[in-house]
Amino acid sequence: MRVAMIGTGYVGLVSGACFADFGHHVICVDKDADKIAALSRGDLPIYEPGLQPLVQSNVREGRLRFATGLAAPVSEADAVFIAVGTPSRRGDGHADLSYVYAAAREIAAALEGFTLVVTKSTVPVGTGDEVERIIREVRPQADAVVVSNPEFLREGAGIRDFKHPDRIVVGTEDERAKEVCEKVGADVQEVARGIGLDNRIGAKFLHAGPGFGGSCFPKDALALIKTGQDHEAPLRIVETIMAVNDQRKRAMGRKVAAALGGNLRGKTVAVLGLTFKPNTDDMREAPAIALITALRDMGAAVRAYDPAGMEQAKPLLPDIAYADSAYACAQGADALVIVTEWEQFRALDLARLKAIMARPVVVDLRNVYRPEDMARYGFAYHSVGRSGHP
Ligand SMILES: NC(=O)c1ccc[n+]([C@@H]2O[C@H](COP(=O)([O-])OP(=O)(O)OC[C@H]3O[C@@H](n4cnc5c(N)ncnc54)[C@H](O)[C@@H]3O)[C@@H](O)[C@H]2O)c1
Repeated sequence: MRVAMIGTGYVGLVSGACFADFGHHVICVDKDADKIAALSRGDLPIYEPGLQPLVQSNVREGRLRFATGLAAPVSEADAVFIAVGTPSRRGDGHADLSYVYAAAREIAAALEGFTLVVTKSTVPVGTGDEVERIIREVRPQADAVVVSNPEFLREGAGIRDFKHPDRIVVGTEDERAKEVCEKVGADVQEVARGIGLDNRIGAKFLHAGPGFGGSCFPKDALALIKTGQDHEAPLRIVETIMAVNDQRKRAMGRKVAAALGGNLRGKTVAVLGLTFKPNTDDMREAPAIALITALRDMGAAVRAYDPAGMEQAKPLLPDIAYADSAYACAQGADALVIVTEWEQFRALDLARLKAIMARPVVVDLRNVYRPEDMARYGFAYHSVGRSGHP
């Protein structure tokens, strides 16, 4: 099959590389010329475990190519996937579908022969109909079928999730509650079945932490709230989740301040982990941003280290120092805060850590360590949601 992947971000690049690895001929298209130039040189614009060798081997074997213009790739393709961004729209929090619709227009103009046009981006209910309408408007005679195939891959485990998904949704998909389902024309039984197929629902993802972040969940939850409001079926639980999450991120700064006696002025706080979760360089909505902003507001100097996210973090957090290892980060610090649970932070040399810090204060926002171990090494240890260890 010949595939054109429109949008070469986390989803487009992983999906394109995996389709190529399955034997299809894929052209990944992106408007961002720097991204395409880097990919054409063999450099990846993002960090995702295992992706570089996968891209390189499929490029070498002639199944994966890159382009900035979509006309030629679309005209040759059997299937065109729309994998462009759908961020929160400025001002109202609705999903911003302008990239999807712009891509649909461009695709429509370039279609030749029978083509599947597949929406892979995460979009609100009704978007497929609009994509179809746009294509019919631009090219009334086009021989195209519009399909919805939302992607559920998780950054950090993208290749495995794409190649071995716990569910594949093709057609139309929605995961709203019953009332909204009725109003938007979905079937709650099907929605419930779809939700139940998600392996992430269960003990594995029930960990206390500093609040959730990332490029998907916050914006998709917000867009879902807006869809509910538009259909006069407000989703109060989801609204409350978002409000609680915002408060929690801010509260983490106060927790660090409390661990240092309430006053951060003149203190140095070392932050381990900046990305919203391990094994990615993605900083979008990362709890570290709100935490570090709060620490800076309270007068602390902040030094941070992250194995993959520092380049992405620098424009977002320009007024902090960056270290090149966990220990360089902790050197001379009054407190160490673990924000992201990268593997390399799970087995720190605690004796060394204690020796190099100005004060042995650790705030572990991921509950990586055991309180008794930390006490044995002489740390004042603070974790989240464990009684006796504030
Ligand atoms: N990141 C994830 O883990 C993840 C997982 C599942 C679903 N999604 C969804 O997939 C979609 C893409 O997310 P992402 O994280 O890959 O976004 P991203 O921002 O990393 O990438 C989107 C890319 O699309 C390009 N683009 C925009 N308009 C274009 C056009 N007309 N032609 C060519 N390229 C264009 C942009 O330059 C950008 O490189 C979103 O809807 C998101 O919600 C993301």
